[in-house]
Amino acid sequence: MPQNLVETHYTSESLGETILAALRAAGKDLDHLTPDDLAPVDEFHSGQRLATVRLAELVGFAGSERVLDVGSGLGGPSRYLAWRYGCRVSGVDLTAEFVRVADMLNRLTGLVGRVDYRQGDALDLPFESESFDVVWSQNAAMNIADRDRLYREMRRVLKPGGKLAMQEVAAGPGGAPHYPVQWAREPSISFLYSQEATRAKLAAAGFRVAAWQDTTEPALQSATARARSAVGQPPALSTHLLLGADWHAMFRNSGRNLEERRTELFNAVLERTD
Ligand SMILES: C[S@@+](CC[C@H](N)C(=O)[O-])C[C@H]1O[C@@H](n2cnc3c(N)ncnc32)[C@H](O)[C@@H]1O
Repeated sequence: MPQNLVETHYTSESLGETILAALRAAGKDLDHLTPDDLAPVDEFHSGQRLATVRLAELVGFAGSERVLDVGSGLGGPSRYLAWRYGCRVSGVDLTAEFVRVADMLNRLTGLVGRVDYRQGDALDLPFESESFDVVWSQNAAMNIADRDRLYREMRRVLKPGGKLAMQEVAAGPGGAPHYPVQWAREPSISFLYSQEATRAKLAAAGFRVAAWQDTTEPALQSATARARSAVGQPPALSTHLLLGADWHAMFRNSGRNLEERRTELFNAVLERTD
């Protein structure tokens, strides 16, 4: 049973079976699945795989890094980093159902031993201090109010000189978002900060900006394309499988919110200061 409102929002019954059925319907061979096969459904953030590729290039992985994905969801980004670069990746997520499905997809893609998942709270990361070379997080912080503590926790588990790579939704100047959106059906579990306020919190937590990209425009293009797919039948494999009956409205609102600058999106790579 979900333990809190955020976990309740993301939990749907029989998600694993739903995804397996959708993979079969999309003609995928379940005995030879690759992270590419899963990307339409397990990259659960704006811009999906392309956004993951862009953020990874901004980090400049060598492949030897030990990586922690905070709010790892179904594990699309973590499996991509292990598969493409050879990194050893751990994921932590609040939603038990997502962790179970991430483990299943890991087995199906043959990545057990290179990627692992556990349930946990980003505000109390279940890892030793100074364990990771890179902390990675995409579209998870918008469910987390206490950003000071979140960024302090991320810094704690990073080795000295380690990097934090983030893709986040930020508050824009256009006013409160239209709901529902993919991360919340109503405001009580949505916590957006402006890019400026986020930068100030990161600096206070002990990070220096190495790269900061406002990606609102490309996110708007991708959200507009997705909103078009919210008319009529969606493709067999898509993140609508994770979202529940109101997925049409969520896809549409994502585009509207970006267009009206109620939300913005950014990529950032930061270094731990010591
Ligand atoms: C929109 S999904 C993104 C998943 C993944 N990062 C991706 O891009 O595919 C947001 C995720 O953040 C997780 N999350 C939200 N609050 C969290 C917290 N306090 N600690 C850990 N995970 C959290 C949710 O359970 C959910 O899996």
